[in-house]
Amino acid sequence: MPSAIADDNDNETLRGAFYGRRKGKKLRDRQTDLINELLPKLRLPEEGPISPRDLFDTPIDDIWLEIGFGGGEHLIAQALAHRNIGIIGCEPFINGMAKLLSMLDEEDITNVRLHDADAIPVIARLPEASISRAYILYPDPWPKRRHRKRRIVSDESLAMLARVIRPGGLLRFATDIDDYAAWTLARLERSPDFVWQAERADDWRQPWDGWISTRYEQKAFREGRTPSYITAVRR
Ligand SMILES: C[S@@+](CC[C@H](N)C(=O)[O-])C[C@H]1O[C@@H](n2cnc3c(N)ncnc32)[C@H](O)[C@@H]1O
Repeated sequence: MPSAIADDNDNETLRGAFYGRRKGKKLRDRQTDLINELLPKLRLPEEGPISPRDLFDTPIDDIWLEIGFGGGEHLIAQALAHRNIGIIGCEPFINGMAKLLSMLDEEDITNVRLHDADAIPVIARLPEASISRAYILYPDPWPKRRHRKRRIVSDESLAMLARVIRPGGLLRFATDIDDYAAWTLARLERSPDFVWQAERADDWRQPWDGWISTRYEQKAFREGRTPSYITAVRR
């Protein structure tokens, strides 16, 4: 298990601050069309409280949230495998959003809604105990010590997630950066709201059942890094 790193330097607010990339290479025409035409149909309302079940036209048994879905491989596979679950995906990187929209356009998927900006304000707008699962998969690592306060996992963001995840619900986190695994475990350990679900010593090296590998994980494997997988249960 990675040693828990006692670094209290992460209590700076994430609200209003987004440090990642919003744009990469120029979008193809088709991708631009999808951003202009399909995204507005799937986008969350711009402000006010979000009533997640009302976002979907078809009956939904539960709501999951994916923060930073990248190219959307995980999100789309989950949406296809669990058509009774409404999935809210947040991704400010427009090229990632365009990739997901291309996949959505090819499939008959009604259970996805999207937010093309920072996930933190979305969490703040969700009702208490309104979702049963949140995924944070390979978040930006911010490896430099002075940048760690930019990490999406903080005491504050865990408290925000704890408010919206119902008791018994799950927070699932994966990273290829050992220091980030230790960082997250340390914050989960001191959170009054989550319990790390580990049954065996090396559980953090085993993906959970039904794990869907992401683009970023494939890059991590190619570059020789070993992932960690953490599931925490909302008390
Ligand atoms: C390293 S990538 C991983 C992408 C994907 N989850 C994967 O595993 O392939 C991290 C992603 O998180 C997104 N991200 C960063 N900060 C975010 C925030 N505050 N809210 C939502 N997404 C965020 C970035 O735009 C980026 O696409």
